[in-house]
Amino acid sequence: MWEKSVGVTAESRTPQRERSAVFAAVGAHVPSIVVTNDDLAARLDTSDEWITSRTGIRTRQVVEPGGSTSDLAIAAGMAALRAAGSDASIDAVVLATSTPDRLVPATAPAVAAGLGLAGVPAFDVDAVCSGFVYGLAVANGLIAAATADRVLLIGADTFSTIVDPTDRATAPLFGDGAGAVVLRAGEPDEPGALLAFELGSDGALAELITVRDGWFAMQGQAVYRQAVTRMAGAARGVLARTGWEPGDVDSFVGHQANLRILRAVGADLGVDADRVHTNVTEVGNTVSASIPLALAHAHAAGRIRAGHRVLLSAFGGGATWGAATLVWPELS
Ligand code: ACO
Repeated sequence: MWEKSVGVTAESRTPQRERSAVFAAVGAHVPSIVVTNDDLAARLDTSDEWITSRTGIRTRQVVEPGGSTSDLAIAAGMAALRAAGSDASIDAVVLATSTPDRLVPATAPAVAAGLGLAGVPAFDVDAVCSGFVYGLAVANGLIAAATADRVLLIGADTFSTIVDPTDRATAPLFGDGAGAVVLRAGEPDEPGALLAFELGSDGALAELITVRDGWFAMQGQAVYRQAVTRMAGAARGVLARTGWEPGDVDSFVGHQANLRILRAVGADLGVDADRVHTNVTEVGNTVSASIPLALAHAHAAGRIRAGHRVLLSAFGGGATWGAATLVWPELS
């Protein structure tokens, strides 16, 4: 049944050493309702000046009441599949999310079915804001082990559904969104191949970022410090594994929690500010969607170009952290 469903040949399931996951396409989707800082200031004791100076965020986009993570994930997945072209048969769907449609079952099978991919293996990965980097490592493993030839990895979250709209400390920080990549089997040294990973977690920090009584809660200043330290540390680790110096990095795409964190990580690493890509100003913190959305936006704007040495790094609840490297390929 499994063989029939995923259409992977016995030959291609034989583990081979020299297979890597290679970026084949990216896609993105953000919902249409825009919430500005002034909109928040109209109902909360806050201001555009406070939010902008502390976080860099000016707008975020949120789902309509009743909107779900799977809606966004399907739209982003569709965009990535369209960009991948007609030969993009998919063997597995991995969804990074911390806001699944329901606790049980996982959301990925519904997303796969919504994309016309019913039958393929589909499952969720939850590492909060590090979820997309963890998902890349999982997808890379599926491909390297020849379990799949093409994986659709989607990062999607709807934190507007778990952030208390009356809490000025957390309501300004988040937006909803989804980003997706199609990964295909390829050579480890070709452009687009994932080169190295650095992943970690520390459950002793679990209380920093939680959901209590149904609402998101965090210890802001401790999260800030941990995010800078862990994102920089993971980045250094993956750079060492890749054999790159910070000065070799052409494009740094970090988890878009806030502008000050991204700038501090860039400065700590010694990556020039003009190589630190951000879209947090427009979309806020979109959690699992943050890195793929930033990648898709930077790619569409021509800020990340073929041949760029790209560094990804994230920190999230758990606590979890992760980093990855690749050379950006020619993509449509
Ligand atoms: N508007 C106005 N005042 C506010 C607001 C607001 N939106 N939010 C908090 N305040 C007030 C507080 O009540 C406090 O007032 P007080 O001094 O009278 O008690 C004052 O501002 C300072 O509050 P702090 O929480 O100390 O503010 P801080 O300077 O730490 O900034 C922030 C808060 C922006 C959240 C910061 O801690 C931060 O960037 N943390 C990183 C957390 C983050 O980005 N998390 C994202 C989710 S987790 C992740 O992605 C990894």
